[in-house]
Amino acid sequence: MRIFLDTANIDHIRQAARLGVISGITTNPSLVSREKPADYRATIEEICSIIPGPVSAEVVVEEAQAMIEQARQISTWAPNIVIKIPATAEGLETTSVLAKENIKVNLTLCFSLNQALLGALAGATYVSPFVGRLDDIGHDGMELVKDMVDVFTHYQLPTQVIAASIRHPEHCVAAAKAGAHIATVPYAVLMQMIRHPLTDTGITRFLADWQHLSEQQ
Ligand code: E4P
Repeated sequence: MRIFLDTANIDHIRQAARLGVISGITTNPSLVSREKPADYRATIEEICSIIPGPVSAEVVVEEAQAMIEQARQISTWAPNIVIKIPATAEGLETTSVLAKENIKVNLTLCFSLNQALLGALAGATYVSPFVGRLDDIGHDGMELVKDMVDVFTHYQLPTQVIAASIRHPEHCVAAAKAGAHIATVPYAVLMQMIRHPLTDTGITRFLADWQHLSEQQ
């Protein structure tokens, strides 16, 4: 399973890039507005220059023709741009048009297997089930990830599953076990994935023992 970072924060992207474990970025209008960028396009271009892998930027209109036009524009900003399109009828129409133009789509706000299947059939490169938001309303978000992986595999659909709306490290473990191609994680969750108290106490003890040895010599 690959890991994407779910953020528009340039500092976090630079710091995570140094770890060598991030192969893409997902943004959305809420994440971008949190950063209050002076220039949306410049921000996305900067992200694309830091991370050579897929960078998802979302359309902010609802009608198909407007989405198609906006997506075509955004797709010219960098060669690694992926357009995030919502899982609606207008979004499916947009996806099928963009797919024929070889513009990659990440079908977002996906909450059901039917939406995911239709996205794959329309030609989306990625479909993003929102695990945390499903959990929030009492569903099992990871079941949807498992079902999508099973169905895409069974019918040999090339669309990749991005486990999204990840809230904690256990979501990443479950996404990997479910066979998700990618998990897109907030920066804080990435940091939590790294930490283990036994690693910290192990380092402390190793260094103390080493110090003790050098004092004896
Ligand atoms: C994914 O592409 C979305 O940007 C994101 O995972 C949404 O997560 P949230 O439910 O925490 O807003």
